[in-house]
Amino acid sequence: MAWRPAGLREKQQQSLHVSGKVAAVASRIAYYLGTFTNAKYQIISSNMLGLSGTKLACGEGGCGACTVMFSKYDHLQNKIVHFPANACLAPICSLHHVSVTTVEGIGSTKTRLHPVQERIAKSHGSQCGFCTPGIVMSMYMLLRNQPEPTMEEIEDALQGNLCRCTGYRPILQGFRTFARDGGCCGGKGDNPNCCMNQKKDQTVTLSPSLFNPEEFMPLDPTQEPIFPPELLVGDAPGREIHENFISSKMPGAALGIKDRPATSGFHFFPGIEMKFKNKLFPLIVCPAWIPELNSVEHGEEGISFGASCPLSCVEKTLLDAVAQLPTHKTEVFRGILEQLRWFSGKQLKSVASVGGNIITASPISDLNPVFMASGAKLTIVSRGTRRTIRMDHTFFPGYRKTLLGPEEILLAIEIPYSREGEFFSAFKQSSGREDYIPKVTSGMRVLFQPGTAQIKELALCYGGMADRTISALKTTRKQLTCVQAWQEELQLAPDAPGGMIEFRRTLTLSFFFKFYLTVLQKLGKVDSEDKCGKLDPTFASATLLFQKDPPTNVQLFQEVPKGQSEDDIVGRPLPHLGAAMQACGEAVYCDDIPHYQNELSLRLVTSTRAHAKIKSIDTSEAQKVQGFVCFLSVDDIPGSNKTGYFNDETVFAKDEVTCVGHIIGAVVTDTPEHAQRAAQAVKITYEDLPAIITIEDAIKHNSFYGSELKIEKGDLQKGFLEADNIVSGEFYIGGQEHFYLETHCTIAVPKGEAGEMELFVSTENTMKTQAFVANVLGVPANQILVRVKRLGGGFGGKETRSTLVSTAVALAVYKTGCPVRCMLDRDEDMLITGGRHPFLARYKVGFMKTGRIVALEVNHYSNAGNTLDLSEAVMQAALFHMESCYKIPNIRGTGRVCKTNLPSNTAFRGFGAPQAMLIAEQWMSEIAVTCGLPAEEVRRKNMYKEGDLTHFNQKLEGFTLTRCWDECLASSQYHARKSEIDKFNKENCWKKRGLCIVPTKFGINFAISFLNQAGALILVYTDGSVLLTHGGTEMGQGLHTKMVQVASRALKIPTSKIYISETSTNTVPNTSPTAASISTDLNGQAVYEACQTILKRLEPFKRKNPSGSWEDWVIAAYQDAVSLSATGFYKAPEVTYSFETNSGYLFNYFSYGVACSEVEIDCLTGDHKNLRTDIVMDVGSSLNPAIDIGQVEGAFVQGLGLFTLEELQYSPEGSLYTRGPSTYKIPTFGSIPIEFRVSLLRDSPNKKAIYASKAVGEPPLFLAASIFFAIKDAIHAARAQHKDYNRKELFRLDSPATQEKIRNACMDKFATMV
Ligand SMILES: Cc1cc2nc3c(=O)[nH]c(=O)nc-3n(C[C@H](O)[C@H](O)[C@H](O)COP(=O)(O)OP(=O)(O)OC[C@H]3O[C@@H](n4cnc5c(N)ncnc54)[C@H](O)[C@@H]3O)c2cc1C
Ligand code: FES
Ligand code: FES
Repeated sequence: MAWRPAGLREKQQQSLHVSGKVAAVASRIAYYLGTFTNAKYQIISSNMLGLSGTKLACGEGGCGACTVMFSKYDHLQNKIVHFPANACLAPICSLHHVSVTTVEGIGSTKTRLHPVQERIAKSHGSQCGFCTPGIVMSMYMLLRNQPEPTMEEIEDALQGNLCRCTGYRPILQGFRTFARDGGCCGGKGDNPNCCMNQKKDQTVTLSPSLFNPEEFMPLDPTQEPIFPPELLVGDAPGREIHENFISSKMPGAALGIKDRPATSGFHFFPGIEMKFKNKLFPLIVCPAWIPELNSVEHGEEGISFGASCPLSCVEKTLLDAVAQLPTHKTEVFRGILEQLRWFSGKQLKSVASVGGNIITASPISDLNPVFMASGAKLTIVSRGTRRTIRMDHTFFPGYRKTLLGPEEILLAIEIPYSREGEFFSAFKQSSGREDYIPKVTSGMRVLFQPGTAQIKELALCYGGMADRTISALKTTRKQLTCVQAWQEELQLAPDAPGGMIEFRRTLTLSFFFKFYLTVLQKLGKVDSEDKCGKLDPTFASATLLFQKDPPTNVQLFQEVPKGQSEDDIVGRPLPHLGAAMQACGEAVYCDDIPHYQNELSLRLVTSTRAHAKIKSIDTSEAQKVQGFVCFLSVDDIPGSNKTGYFNDETVFAKDEVTCVGHIIGAVVTDTPEHAQRAAQAVKITYEDLPAIITIEDAIKHNSFYGSELKIEKGDLQKGFLEADNIVSGEFYIGGQEHFYLETHCTIAVPKGEAGEMELFVSTENTMKTQAFVANVLGVPANQILVRVKRLGGGFGGKETRSTLVSTAVALAVYKTGCPVRCMLDRDEDMLITGGRHPFLARYKVGFMKTGRIVALEVNHYSNAGNTLDLSEAVMQAALFHMESCYKIPNIRGTGRVCKTNLPSNTAFRGFGAPQAMLIAEQWMSEIAVTCGLPAEEVRRKNMYKEGDLTHFNQKLEGFTLTRCWDECLASSQYHARKSEIDKFNKENCWKKRGLCIVPTKFGINFAISFLNQAGALILVYTDGSVLLTHGGTEMGQGLHTKMVQVASRALKIPTSKIYISETSTNTVPNTSPTAASISTDLNGQAVYEACQTILKRLEPFKRKNPSGSWEDWVIAAYQDAVSLSATGFYKAPEVTYSFETNSGYLFNYFSYGVACSEVEIDCLTGDHKNLRTDIVMDVGSSLNPAIDIGQVEGAFVQGLGLFTLEELQYSPEGSLYTRGPSTYKIPTFGSIPIEFRVSLLRDSPNKKAIYASKAVGEPPLFLAASIFFAIKDAIHAARAQHKDYNRKELFRLDSPATQEKIRNACMDKFATMV
């Protein structure tokens, strides 16, 4: 099927070739791409063709969810080339003469899964599945070009993809089966490291195998879709003019481009600028087919690249050159390759051009300092003129400016060979190692007089230290000493954009020191006389480039008891039931629902002020935007504008806004693109009011919700009097963005009679969505139907905040009578919907010399934002977990919920407990340091025992934590490794390692008693198939899969007979949110009860026909007019806890776990590597070990993000800076521990939950604190080495432990020089 956007002429249709299956698939690309072109191209949406595998999760090239394969016949190389691309960034004209393949094009559940799809599904690498199509395509792309990749190539191929659920390990393990150096031999080979060859425990059967690679289809490269033959014929597309794909910022008078723009090519920034800055470009020139701009020439002095060469081409050419040329000639090339290693993903490198990177003139470009330091030559042309210049400090005269004249274009760049005696290094430091947005970048070159230690030339160029790439000229010309230079040439104003002033300045020195050491080391190899001095061996590791070993992992779980029937699926690692569909792009998410006739788009209009009076709203310009239908404000609400859990929120702000992102109104138009333009055209004037942004501000102004919460036990005063030592301090934990890959989305459809409305929502809370929508419309709840198929991740972020979108969309339907859709863009989602609460703690702990704690007082403050939402419950949970796993006789914890002018924070996996427990481990680590005792000894000494009472007076029964602890200590070989680490630290001055083991204890229950209820509905049809519904939503956590397993065991029928379609308010009403880790416990029991009712009704028919089948009994019951539908209901034991008396029943039970982590830090840059993590987790008798291990790993990696990477940054005025993956860094494939070992505690049935299982969603998240404190341990070692620099034994390291904080905490001479 040929496809073309409406409005294109026949000729253009040919150039936009998309054929067969691929055509339909490409429609989503075009849809997204369409958002970057003029409105007249917004014609086609994916839904018109019914395929929607390619996902949109960020729109800025940062997540890889939209990865597709582009294939074209390359006329320069005379071959077909395939490369990955981010559909969200590619302009529509880039499809010219290009064949597009998306996830639906390679396999399907209806025909045959592609091996990549099969392996990610069966190896449990797809949870919510929203990232899966993009990951599948990245892997597919690699195999298309390299059918037998190495593990390193696999990791590289996935560098541009994000997943928020899985923790990446299962994906890597599944794909490892393709690797020539890591493929699983299925236990047949003699490799002892093969997952199938792990030793089995003698007493109980422990299985290391969550899937069987022997089941996998082999990869057969001959079966891949062929390249469309019609694109093979003819010459390279010429320089035709395509009036539809007009425009360019690129000056094109030269080469006739201005008059006859060439077709097809790739541009990024225009797309991003159009999307995020609302810019329109009249002409986009795509130079991909222009030979002069794409050639590669090996010359006398260097290699010359046409300016449009993609960075992947530069990388490949330089890699070949490094392999072939003498080492001394490739110093610069190796520097560039080092920068390109950390340059986003393959998708970007395959299409981003080297010329585009230069001319963009980004002050933080990581290639420009390298080009400048190397003395690269640029050839610049315009109509009739041509000049070649050396790229030096004059090339960037100002912010985002170059020396090019308006009529000039960059034709080529020549990267020079290095010479004998010349050395080159390149550095790039970001917030996280895999963060492609650097803080400081640098290229450094030195040339020695032949045979001497005399410097002939020196170049030190930096990015990130000014508004352009700069060269430290005075230093290199010896007009200044190094120290003067850093003080004068590399200054940064305290308010310089990007912040982190101290870190950035220290980095410039650290880089130089690394360069110096590297040169010394290289000279040592060539200069046998040691003219330049010898490198101190303990400094040698500082010169090593950041390198990660290939990942290894072990997952151990207890196999089902011998004798368990093969048909009984409980306890077996059944893959997530949606995984195969997710891998094929067939799984339907909210925005994948086909568009309705007359459907309209809604875009929220939000405040740009943190606290202000609304003076006026002017929609006159918005009304002029094409497709404008209406503007909605508070005046349009028929019901109540009051909303929220505590009725303290508004659907639309009236008169006053209380945060940036506060929803003021909404525009409704015909398309999302028009809605975006119209929303931006709404003019609002404000009168600013004083705003409170931080916790400190709130404390100062006494701005709190409610009164102080308090738990107190024992006699605190007496405790402190008894103590040998008292330590007090302050500790801050930053917030966290949920970053579910699927942003908030609602589609509402009028049903045409009696005000009925049907909503499809990405929500964890069908009940509140229904209630809030009914409330705003002023109708009874029975007219509002809320349906949820699946969520692309939730993590608590869609428990209440999804209603912000749903209420506005429902109102738009009410007003227009048309179906309305709204899916938030990533930046809107991050701005508006809040996240995890930042916490500040002021603590004081009293303890004996032995490390035994006798008294603890912690005052907790959380930043709740502008509405209460769930903040009080979050603070309560924090207080319940403030002692972590330790018995403290005298304790007082208080909590204040700060009211600020930030968007309301909300539920997030762990719900306050991770913050409280991190605070606990903070004072615990300080006790160990103060007493001079090993930290693990102090932790163990204070740990609870079976039967102890917690500080809220709950007796600990079935206390398995000590078992987890002892097993983890033993399996991680903690003590032996501790000695090895001490040795490593002695031998390495600038790299340090740290080790830490931490326990966790997590209470399971909603603290509000009535929420601990659930319902289920079971419908049995006459063919024996079962339709099951329960109150929980599926968001990747495998709830539906577990519920099918429960029903399968209860009914004794195979899982294939049971289907869950969705969660809806017309099947199971009044559901509690899918939250608190308790959904399996509650819904599982409700499902079980429903099954029992059915079984009871079938019993007479079974008795009558004992040898009959399930189907026989069902049909017999039907024919006997017996009801085959049943509901099930369950309520957990009542919560009676009271804060007033600090007594009563609170948690149903506790989940326990222990993790031990080892890290290595680079003291000069703040980089850290997660070397190894061992986890032992008690999940009771696991219902599904694959899903449970997936939850453990996913939660751990999310915690790793919370404690070490993810940092929300706000302006002093309360505006969020970090609004997408380019600025907010969640863990990537490269972030996870190189060695990742997870073991589920054996023989620990839990009598309090369904089939003896335990809750697992939230408890493991906190275990990532082991990484945080391992980092702190390593910093201790670094500070101990540099004793002279004002080091204190106890030092403050707030969370997250980012590179900046790690570097700044490693006190050394460089840190004191800036
Ligand atoms: C997700 C993401 C990650 C990134 N990571 C990094 C990173 O790690 N390090 C880094 O340095 N950069 C990074 N970038 C920036 C990226 O390198 C540049 O956006 C890219 O190289 C630009 O190439 P392009 O072909 O798309 O240029 P375009 O966007 O097409 O062009 C950029 C500008 O240059 C002009 N231009 C292009 N070619 C010419 C020419 N031949 N002559 C004259 N003018 C020309 C255009 O008119 C336009 O103004 C990243 C960008 C994204 C979106
Ligand atoms: S949606 Fe394209 S990279 Fe995120
Ligand atoms: S499975 Fe990867 S984001 Fe959910």
